[in-house]
Amino acid sequence: MSSSNPLRDPADRRLPRIAGPSGLVIFGVTGDLSRKKLMPAVYDLANRGLLPPGFSLVGFARREWANEDFAQEVHDAVKEHARTPFREEVWQQLVQGMRFVQGTFDDDDAFERLRSTIDELDKAQGTGGNFAFYLSVPPSAFPVVIKQLKKHRLAEQSNGSWRRAVIEKPFGHDLKSAEELNSVVHEVFAPDQVFRIDHYLGKETVQNILALRFANQMFEPIWNRSFVDHVQITMAEDIGIGGRAGYYDGIGAARDVIQNHLLQLMALTAMEEPASFDADALAAEKTKVLGAVKLPKDLGRSTVRGQYAEGWQGGEQAVGYLQEDGIDPKSKTDTYAAIKVEVDNRRWAGVPFYLRTGKRLGRRVTEIAVVFQRAPHSPFDHTATEELGQNAIVIRVQPDEGITVRFGSKVPGTSMEIRDVSMDFAYGESFTESSPEAYERLILDVLLGDSNLFPRTEEVELSWKILDPIEEYWDKHGKPAQYPAGTWGPVEADEMLEADGRSWRRP
Ligand code: BG6
Repeated sequence: MSSSNPLRDPADRRLPRIAGPSGLVIFGVTGDLSRKKLMPAVYDLANRGLLPPGFSLVGFARREWANEDFAQEVHDAVKEHARTPFREEVWQQLVQGMRFVQGTFDDDDAFERLRSTIDELDKAQGTGGNFAFYLSVPPSAFPVVIKQLKKHRLAEQSNGSWRRAVIEKPFGHDLKSAEELNSVVHEVFAPDQVFRIDHYLGKETVQNILALRFANQMFEPIWNRSFVDHVQITMAEDIGIGGRAGYYDGIGAARDVIQNHLLQLMALTAMEEPASFDADALAAEKTKVLGAVKLPKDLGRSTVRGQYAEGWQGGEQAVGYLQEDGIDPKSKTDTYAAIKVEVDNRRWAGVPFYLRTGKRLGRRVTEIAVVFQRAPHSPFDHTATEELGQNAIVIRVQPDEGITVRFGSKVPGTSMEIRDVSMDFAYGESFTESSPEAYERLILDVLLGDSNLFPRTEEVELSWKILDPIEEYWDKHGKPAQYPAGTWGPVEADEMLEADGRSWRRP
């Protein structure tokens, strides 16, 4: 083979990135996330040939399971939720490395058993001492698990092996608790051993924000306050809280989604071009954006929270939040939140960023709409442009992944009439490759030690700094506004934009 053969060029990013010898330990393995996302993602990675042959998966939980019971649980989860077809030979190989450790988080014996399980896997499966510990557990359990990992020397990296901690959101409840958590984590793990999950960063369409902006010439010159009127970032869900009352009540939409997913989307949309595409450079630029966020003075007019009441969704009747199982009927938890912020720097000064999220809204959609100012002068009659909206570039994160550019065009005919049209890029039409699921991408990155897509300590803390005053304001002032399930949120949210002479998109 010649040296130009891409198979020989280690710098070629198109090569499949295959993890080296390693294993994954999941704490909280009986939870929903583990069954719906983590186990299927591990199988899909194995099925696509991206895991090493001796890859091992260890479950840690209270259940009285033997290895076989755990393997059966993984099997069922994979059959139900994996994206790729079930192949017996892949499964048979994967199952060789599955182990279960029974115990509670404060059980020293269980952590000793975990240590010997890892030693045994190193010998039987060739995992080389390389293990990632995935904490898919409530935040209150983070400190005890992290401390146990230290106490039982599971975080130690010896003889060239690695140990990594993967931490699910929510990372804290506010700035103070996030700082406390960070100090616990960093007492045990060095910063490059810690991977904080924000699964939105694992989405293909989210990574494409950077490709759109920085691999092209035509967007970046207009991506600033001279041309942009405002930016709207929406993450709408049609589902309610399902069986997650215990997690959700007291947390609410702003902490659950705005603090992490939406502020990360905003940071990627607003940041300057990084010097390179490596983790430090990306984090530095995102951190600058989050550090430049300014909240309007009047939080009463620039934030809205809501709670879904009963209504109709997709032809079915949906109960209100307060009637959901396990919810305190007096709960003030927000299931909808909309906020307006500014990024106070030279590029964005004066451009509002409106962020909104909610459950039981009209439909499931996540998008970033960059809405442009109107042309400064129009040579056409007022009547010609009556139906013309503002130009917009819309990044359709999900579903129907793609990008839409909206602009005005002459309506065919003998008179001059201009109306909005759109030009679409759809992943499904332009590419034959399918997008990996976010958790597949992120688990693989953890095993590879690639931290580009994981928010850093500073980003998490700055995001709480943005949200804390809003949550404090809400705590002191009234209750969430009600909105019927299946609608687009409380009228107060519409009024918030109307007061600025704008309106929400109806995606
Ligand atoms: C999670 C939130 O982070 O994201 C959930 O905790 C939400 O409340 C979920 O439903 C949505 O993720 P996705 O990938 O389905 O948009």
